[in-house]
Amino acid sequence: MSGLLAGKRLLITGVITDASIAFSAAKVAQENGATVVLTGFGRLSLVERIAKRLPEPVPVIELDVTNPEHLNGLADKVREHVDGLDGVVHSIGFAPQSCLGGGFLDAPWEDVATALHISTYSYKSLAMAALPLMGRGGSVVGLTFDATQAWPVYDWMGVAKAGLESASRYLAVHLGKQGIRSNLVAAGPLRTMAAKSIPGFEQFEEAWSERAPLGWDLTDQEPAARAICALLSDWFPATTGEVVHVDGGYHAVGA
Ligand SMILES: NC(=O)c1ccc[n+]([C@@H]2O[C@H](COP(=O)([O-])OP(=O)(O)OC[C@H]3O[C@@H](n4cnc5c(N)ncnc54)[C@H](O)[C@@H]3O)[C@@H](O)[C@H]2O)c1
Repeated sequence: MSGLLAGKRLLITGVITDASIAFSAAKVAQENGATVVLTGFGRLSLVERIAKRLPEPVPVIELDVTNPEHLNGLADKVREHVDGLDGVVHSIGFAPQSCLGGGFLDAPWEDVATALHISTYSYKSLAMAALPLMGRGGSVVGLTFDATQAWPVYDWMGVAKAGLESASRYLAVHLGKQGIRSNLVAAGPLRTMAAKSIPGFEQFEEAWSERAPLGWDLTDQEPAARAICALLSDWFPATTGEVVHVDGGYHAVGA
């Protein structure tokens, strides 16, 4: 088999529609020689239906990243399909409505806790659940929305992403001795289900359309997917704790 990811065995979370960044990542990975196992949250039959649109058939394992039983059983379930893992993709985010759209000052801790559990802490949980299957050269990749500044309407999700960026650096520290890398892709705004749940998301769309030096297609997940695959590959062997921007260059431009 040929391709950037030839022979790589990957666990990819976060497919819910064919607009999911994870769906594009799985597609590009398969096109480049990888064997992919998906996990799905909740609506498994929907995820299985969407997965049929990928170039190759893929197994789908149920995983709620807040469920300790799912996490404890993950390695055994993955082993039913592949004998190890070379890469893991965390493409998961969620915040209750109170945490988004301008509610920063009023969101209760219980809701913020949910956002942090699913969007931040789970990065570590997923990596640890997959760790028994990983060896030197392994790669964990997650998705952030540049958290170096405060955005309108992103509110506690922005805090969750800042935490995720830090968690990725700590994971890089703690898994470095085992030769396992941890990196994030900071994608620009993309019209996915998660994005649609953010009231006022169109403000990002307008800003990117006007200011990204390379321009920005809100419906094209492939640039982010390609970066994910590059970070999963052997072509970033000495890169860890990094955030790679895939945003048309928006982050580099001042107001
Ligand atoms: N869409 C954007 O504009 C954008 C930009 C930058 C980063 N991101 C990030 O990309 C990642 C993927 O999001 P997306 O935009 O593809 O949207 P999406 O809605 O397609 O994917 C989000 C996924 O999170 C999963 N999920 C939610 N709660 C879960 C749980 N408890 N356990 C397991 N999975 C759970 C959902 O099932 C879904 O598959 C997220 O981390 C998101 O924050 C998105």
